[in-house]
Amino acid sequence: MSKSITKITRRNFVKAAATAGLLIPFSPSLMAKSIVNKGNAFVVPPMDTGTREGNQVTFNLSINAGQTMFFNGVNTPTLGINQNYLGPVLRAKRGDTVKINVTNKINEVTTLHWHGMTLPANMDGGPHQFIKLGQTWSPQFKIRQEASTLWYHSHALHKTGPQVYHGLAGLFIVDDESSDLLGLPSEYGVDDIPCTIQDRRFNRDGSLSYLTAMPDRMMGMQGSTILVNGVVTPTLKAKSTLLRLRLHNGSNARTYRLAFSDARLFHIIASDCGFLPRPFQTNEVRLAAAERVEILVDVSDKKQIMLKSLATSGGGMMPMMRMMNSSPEMNIMLIDASQAKQSPRKIPIELRNNTLALNPKSAVTRRKFDLQMGMMGGGMGMMGNMAGAGNSGTSMFQINSKSMDIKRIDFQTKRNTTEIWEIGNSSPMAHPFHVHNVQFRILDRNGKRPHPSESGLKDVVLVQSNEKVRIIMKFPEYSDSQTPYMYHCHILEHEDQGMMGQFVVV
Ligand code: C2O
Ligand code: CU
Ligand code: CU
Repeated sequence: MSKSITKITRRNFVKAAATAGLLIPFSPSLMAKSIVNKGNAFVVPPMDTGTREGNQVTFNLSINAGQTMFFNGVNTPTLGINQNYLGPVLRAKRGDTVKINVTNKINEVTTLHWHGMTLPANMDGGPHQFIKLGQTWSPQFKIRQEASTLWYHSHALHKTGPQVYHGLAGLFIVDDESSDLLGLPSEYGVDDIPCTIQDRRFNRDGSLSYLTAMPDRMMGMQGSTILVNGVVTPTLKAKSTLLRLRLHNGSNARTYRLAFSDARLFHIIASDCGFLPRPFQTNEVRLAAAERVEILVDVSDKKQIMLKSLATSGGGMMPMMRMMNSSPEMNIMLIDASQAKQSPRKIPIELRNNTLALNPKSAVTRRKFDLQMGMMGGGMGMMGNMAGAGNSGTSMFQINSKSMDIKRIDFQTKRNTTEIWEIGNSSPMAHPFHVHNVQFRILDRNGKRPHPSESGLKDVVLVQSNEKVRIIMKFPEYSDSQTPYMYHCHILEHEDQGMMGQFVVV
């Protein structure tokens, strides 16, 4: 087997895929049938505001194994944080200093990463801050950013995919003074509702099925059963006629095109890291893995509506590219508004009076990244490599021709400086690109201004095949020449197989 690495581009992809046997359509036996339970009640995750002494807030989290009944009478082995599957919604205010005691009670090395948070590198919870069985890790940091819906999840080296898939994730809501003044629906679980959307695949015995088919590594782990807050396609009985849904794509790989069954209009009010300048009215929003949007939806007609993910046909003329970028229509959750009480809340006209202070003129450094899917030798080589990918040999998942090496720092940036990054994608599929420690703004996509729903602060951006996306960010004052932050594809199987790099801020 040749050790040469060939980049998979759109052009050579079909040939390569054919040699590797990838063009055989999914066999039905590999696609576990989805079992949709009718009438599952929506579950609001418990909210944890910690123990407060002034501005000092302490949380205690324990990472444990458990059993979850996703289907009646069937126990599924899962992982969770203070519960059997997923974790509580942590909540704190800008200006608070949080201390989070994280105890690992599972028999595997793990971490908890505060996704979207600006913090010192050694508090980040990336692969360097691993926690062994029985150990407690206690990061402490000041919350400096705007009101937003952030999240936390395992970031264990080469194990993020399976650990998050089994349940190691939760939301982290940040509040601030201005969010309190906007008059938005804000009664937790009543008219302000967190929704972590995940797709999963189950084995017949009820256990979660992970990386059982070849395309799972290639396209990332996808399943045909939808969970919202750990419940299969639940029904939310709306208590109010104006709902604020904090939609979080907690899936390992899948991108959703969210819309309501009657195509009703709704307002997007926030993206990953804060409010948009003003509400943006639409009837559809795309949500890639790890992205969040907050939407306001008016259900005063008291109907039943299904939140769906619309089918996408995928880009490109080639069958493989179409397969890699397409998705079927899926039901996410039913909203039954028949009992909803009239909301006193209105949709605000403006959400933020400050513009995002990230000026391209102040950028001192420009960097280029290319997201790549390589291939070892011939087609069989690719298969062989994928079978053991992540741990040995040369990975086929790379950024700028390099795959993640925990001992290699890819570059250095300077604190308090602004940079523009151009992210390209020469692979045949879309990748959600994520940067730790910063909130960025999208300048353009292939030279065009981003969609209004992407005009706010973000920490993840979906980059399509052959697209060039420019983002601008300012590195905060934290510096540490010894401990890196990560940047990576947030398709967790791609991350685990090497589509990740490390930078230090000095
Ligand atoms: Cu949400 Cu590096 O991760
Ligand atoms: Cu992150
Ligand atoms: Cu990727």
